[in-house]
Amino acid sequence: MAVYALPLFAYVLGGLLASVAAQSEYGQCGGIGWTGGITCPTGWVCTDLNPYYSQCLQDTSSGTTTAAPTSTSAPSSTSTSATSTLTGIAASAPTIGPSHDVGKLPALGWNSWNAYGCNINETKVLNAANQFISLGLADAGYEYINIDDCWPLTTRDASTGRIVPDPSKFPNGISGVAEKVHALGFKFGIYSDAGTATCAGFPGSLGNEELDAATFAEWGVDYLKYDNCNVPGNWSDAGNPPGGDWYNSNSAIRYRQMTAAMNETGRPFHFSLCIWGNANVWDWGARVGHSWRMSGDSSASWSYITSIITTNVQHLDSIDFYSHNDMDMMEIGNGALTIQEQRTHFAAWVFLKSPILLGTDLSLLNSTQLDIITNPELLAFHQDATIGTPAAPFTPTAGATTPSPPEFYAGTSSKGTHVFVINTNSTALTKTFDFANVPGLGSGSFVVHDMWTGKDLGTFTTSYSTTVDTHDTAALFIKPA
Ligand code: GAL
Repeated sequence: MAVYALPLFAYVLGGLLASVAAQSEYGQCGGIGWTGGITCPTGWVCTDLNPYYSQCLQDTSSGTTTAAPTSTSAPSSTSTSATSTLTGIAASAPTIGPSHDVGKLPALGWNSWNAYGCNINETKVLNAANQFISLGLADAGYEYINIDDCWPLTTRDASTGRIVPDPSKFPNGISGVAEKVHALGFKFGIYSDAGTATCAGFPGSLGNEELDAATFAEWGVDYLKYDNCNVPGNWSDAGNPPGGDWYNSNSAIRYRQMTAAMNETGRPFHFSLCIWGNANVWDWGARVGHSWRMSGDSSASWSYITSIITTNVQHLDSIDFYSHNDMDMMEIGNGALTIQEQRTHFAAWVFLKSPILLGTDLSLLNSTQLDIITNPELLAFHQDATIGTPAAPFTPTAGATTPSPPEFYAGTSSKGTHVFVINTNSTALTKTFDFANVPGLGSGSFVVHDMWTGKDLGTFTTSYSTTVDTHDTAALFIKPA
């Protein structure tokens, strides 16, 4: 009876259930352990956001899937222009920006979710930190060890109001793990939610931002991933935001409140907005945090990789220092991606400057996979301290048409010009580009260098051709001969 549709895996229920009382707009409608209703109001679909949480979201199937949700409950502000003319929540919402002591470059690290879901504990987290050292990931630049959902008890402390770490998972508390992660030389990240509860049903921080930010700072947290589940109806976005600026939408304000609360602690936090591409976040994300999710959850599939590249290339202008479109956590090591697909997964996250948070049990990675994720030349492009912009699609030869997602990208690093070529076809193909078509080059002779192997491929005039395996990506550095 259920069918999957839309990148958010919309879980559409059939007419048989139409007579059952519907959940509210933005209400929960499914997920592991959920025993409530599973139907949504007309025009809304029960959307499977993760195994633990399905939410009634507006049906966007007739329009763009990344449009912000709208509802009939209007926000309290209807003003039209500058902040000073805003009213209601938008007029009084904090405008402080994120710390620029951190987050200049896209984050490099590990997150527990894709590997373990809710089945986390201190040992698994510390294993990942130790493996950063033993597997060479620390030397390659990986820095953050981040815990995702499901770390606390389901209720706050009755007297202090604080979120309480689950002692069966974290017997030394979160401060205990943070201390050990710091002692190993890494930064430590945690997870909360800009709603009343996290996606898996643990306490959310909406309305408790100051207390939670102060608690996280006291525990030594360096990075906060802030999710978007269980948003009360009065916090939903209503049509166009005040002044037409999504920075003043209720969604943005939920995140702005946490930015301000973190600022008050005096501790610099790397702030990751897990807002799934809602509310035109690419327009305002850098005013609130350092990175923002562009979509629903990743999967270890070629279709996810191509769909998130397709989404992201429409919003390359928002990518620069302190400002990163997040293509979601890595799936290398999970599922059945071919090695070529894993190379493309890594290369695309690199050249589009997405955060790269490994999402697997690191002990399962083989040497080929480790070589991919520690490749020094690709990581140097990703972590370039003088050029923050991503590679962008270009037309390889006169008159060539651009498929979706585009296959040819050119970008600049402090070393010079790079070209990345994805073969989206299901057979190996010869790919050709003219140097004159590559932004920053021109006609003439060039030395073409393979970033994967670190070897020069030779000197070429006018154009370069190479065979790219199915779903693989060529990564090239091109310098004048
Ligand atoms: C989702 C989020 C995932 C993961 C999960 C935890 O909303 O996109 O990355 O954090 O919640 O419940």
